[in-house]
Parts: sequence; C-alpha cells; structure tokens
Amino acid sequence: MGSGIAETAAVSGFEVVLRSRNQATADATLAAIEKSLNRQVEKGKRTEAERDAALARVTATSELSMLRDVDLVIESVVEDLAVKKELFNELDRITDDRTILATNTSTLPVVELAMQTGRPERVCGVHFFNPAPVMELVELVRPLTASDETIAAVRQFAESCGKSPVEVKDQAGFIVNALLFPYLNNAVRLYEQGVASIEDIDTAMKGGCGFPMGPFALLDLVGLDTSLAILDALYAEFRDPNYAAVPLMRRMVAAGETKIRLLIRKMQNCFKMQFQAQNL
Ligand code: 3HC
Repeated sequence: MGSGIAETAAVSGFEVVLRSRNQATADATLAAIEKSLNRQVEKGKRTEAERDAALARVTATSELSMLRDVDLVIESVVEDLAVKKELFNELDRITDDRTILATNTSTLPVVELAMQTGRPERVCGVHFFNPAPVMELVELVRPLTASDETIAAVRQFAESCGKSPVEVKDQAGFIVNALLFPYLNNAVRLYEQGVASIEDIDTAMKGGCGFPMGPFALLDLVGLDTSLAILDALYAEFRDPNYAAVPLMRRMVAAGETKIRLLIRKMQNCFKMQFQAQNL
C-alpha cells in the first residue's frame, strides 16, 4: 500500500518522503513506483515528462528524521497494533508539532495510536484501497480525539489526490472492510466445504454480481496474512461469528503463504507427487 499511496500523492503534485525500514526496501518501493509509471507512459496515460516530474518529487529513505518537517505522515506498516503504537510514539517525538499523523490501518483502533502522541487532536485514519492509484475511495477515520481541522485537512489532501473521501467513525473495519471481509471469509468456507473450486467461485462472483474480481483474486491482492489480521481485529472488537476466520485461512497463513491460489497449486502438486510415489 505504501508504494501506491506515495505514487498517488506524487502524481498529484505533492513532495513525498517515502520512508522504509532500510534503504534497500525504500529503493525497491521507488523502483515499483517507477515501473507503475512506466506502464502508464506505455499505455499513453501519462507523458514521460509527467513521469519524470512525479519521480523527482519522491525521496526514498530509511531515516525517520527525514519526516521532521512534513505536513502529513501516512503510516502503512504491518497491521500490528504494538508495532504501530511504537512508531506513532517515535513520530510524535520526531515530527513538528503541527504535523498531522495519519494511519492507513484497515481495522485497528485509531484512538489508541492517537493516545500514543502528545497531539491526539492531530491524529486520524486515512484508509486507501488496493491498488491505491486506481481505487477512488478513501475512508477518513475520525477517532474520538480528532479535531475538525485535522479531518478537513486530510479530506482536502485526499480530494487533491483525485479521491472521493467518506467520513467514518473509528470502529473496526470502518465501512468497507466490515462488509467485505465476512464475504471473503465465507468464500474460503465455501471452498473448504468442497462446494466449488476456487476458479468457479471467482467466475461466479464476477459473472453473477458484476464484481471486477472474484473473492480469491481479491484475497490474493490484499494478501492472506493481512486478510487474517483484519478478520482477527474485527472478531476481537465485535465477537461476531461472522468475523471468525475460517480455520483453512489461518492454516494457510501458518504455512507461510500470502497468496491462496499459489498455496492451492503447491498443495495440488504435493498430492500429485504423493500419488505418483505410491503409483496411484
Ligand atoms: N497499480 C497501479 N495501477 C494499476 C494497478 C496497480 N497495482 N493494477 C491495475 N492498475 C490499473 C491498470 O494500469 C489499468 O489502468 P488504465 O485503465 O488506466 O489502463 C486499470 O488499473 C485497470 O487494470 P487492468 O486493465 O489491468 O485490470 P482490471 O480492469 O481487471 O482492473 C483492478 C484491475 C483495478 C484491480 C480491478 O480488478 C478492481 O477494481 N478490483 C477490485 C479491487 C478491490 O476491490 N480493491 C479493494 C480491496 S480491499 C482493500 O484494499 C482494503 C484494505 O484494507 C485491505
């Protein structure tokens, strides 16, 4: 998400400091932005001069201190509250008092991040959707502590990026993920029950509901690990069985796989090898 958000801001004319844990990942993220912009040039959607200008606006670094003077920070690290809390604590120390600190969290309580800082009124959520340069929506998440000025400033930023923001209370899943993830979870359940193949479930939801992607393609786009973290956060907040991740999803993440379709292919190959070994 970080690279998509940085690309969106850079092409919209903002100076961007793209900070990653180390210089190698920062450089790789910048390379991903360049690749995406090159594709747009090849398609005739953007000129070479626009690509070069957007790239020139991005500074890739591993130094948190480079964020000292920015107007807005958008954090998009792993969906782990402890990791995000530590980062907000550091950001509060490092950045100018006037800087707005926003999180791109999918489900976690924004107020808990706000309370890690000495400026809870200048902390909010700004939730982009995958792929960020393409998807129009941004959810502006208002924790109990945020000021009207903060929400207005972040709304203005999102609109300047060509997005259509909606405002939502700081409640797990906000609007989209609260509705989307029970659906994705139930798609895995349907597959687990042997009702249909992954391909047929995807085909059915595209053809039957006009969705641009089937649920499994979408799970792969989001990542199984992130999807599980979102379901766990929803379940922790509401204790609603609709949000309880189906066991297969948890096992797949435990197997170290972030893409469901890759894992299924591996499993199928593994069964094939077992059958071959047994001459079946
Ligand atoms: N980065 C930049 N641009 C991208 C891109 C990416 N990763 N992926 C696709 N695009 C662009 C393409 O270049 C193309 O641009 P163009 O129309 O200007 O030529 C456009 O998107 C359409 O792409 P394609 O023609 O290659 O493919 P599709 O028409 O199938 O569209 C899609 C791809 C936009 C991903 C579409 O399938 C889609 O909208 N899928 C649903 C995505 C979705 O539901 N996202 C939300 C996920 S939930 C979430 O993010 C919340 C989080 O908290 C987990």
